[in-house]
Amino acid sequence: MSRLKLVGLAGSYNRPSKTFALVDHIATLASARYGFDKHVHDLTDVGPSLGQAQWRSNLDAGATAILEDVVSADVLVIGSPTYKGSYPGLFKHFIDLIDPEQLRAKPILISATGGGERHALMVEHQLRPLFGFFMAHTLPTAIYASDRDFTNYQVSSDALKERIGFAIDEIAAFFPTHTLAAAAAE
Ligand SMILES: Cc1cc2nc3c(=O)[nH]c(=O)nc-3n(C[C@H](O)[C@H](O)[C@H](O)COP(=O)(O)O)c2cc1C
Repeated sequence: MSRLKLVGLAGSYNRPSKTFALVDHIATLASARYGFDKHVHDLTDVGPSLGQAQWRSNLDAGATAILEDVVSADVLVIGSPTYKGSYPGLFKHFIDLIDPEQLRAKPILISATGGGERHALMVEHQLRPLFGFFMAHTLPTAIYASDRDFTNYQVSSDALKERIGFAIDEIAAFFPTHTLAAAAAE
């Protein structure tokens, strides 16, 4: 059987990036556990055509390939930096280019980073409704990480690692046990 695909998307164009580090950390653990093929992208990978694109057809080939990777994923790990209490405009613009039915029923682990704790509910008040529009299955456990959860752009907080573990556990509910076992064995 073909392997299931997990795609991570970090809505940051900074490098290094705490959001990319968080998404990659989650994606790596989930892929190791369930045998997913892992692809992780950020907005710098998407590149400058995004800002100019009024329509999906205006994206260049690299950006189009990333968008197609996202919509064809079996599982998504979405991470966004918090900008002014929400997600960045450019991240939303990328999501705006996805057709409404393309994320329907897709399992999505939602995550965000922010400078402090004040906007921790941005995952619940901003990201969850955004993917609710698409009728995606956002996992019950959302992940928020602040500056102090990282050391040198690596996830370092034990409490955060524990919460990430709970969210990764929840992915199993979306796949028959035999499918995951077969994927993990390949
Ligand atoms: C324009 C801008 C707005 C920001 N607004 C917030 C905010 O409202 N709340 C917050 O906690 N952090 C805010 N931050 C901090 C970023 O969310 C934080 O540094 C994030 O982890 C950066 O992610 P990155 O390293 O992946 O780019 C803001 C940063 C920028 C550049």
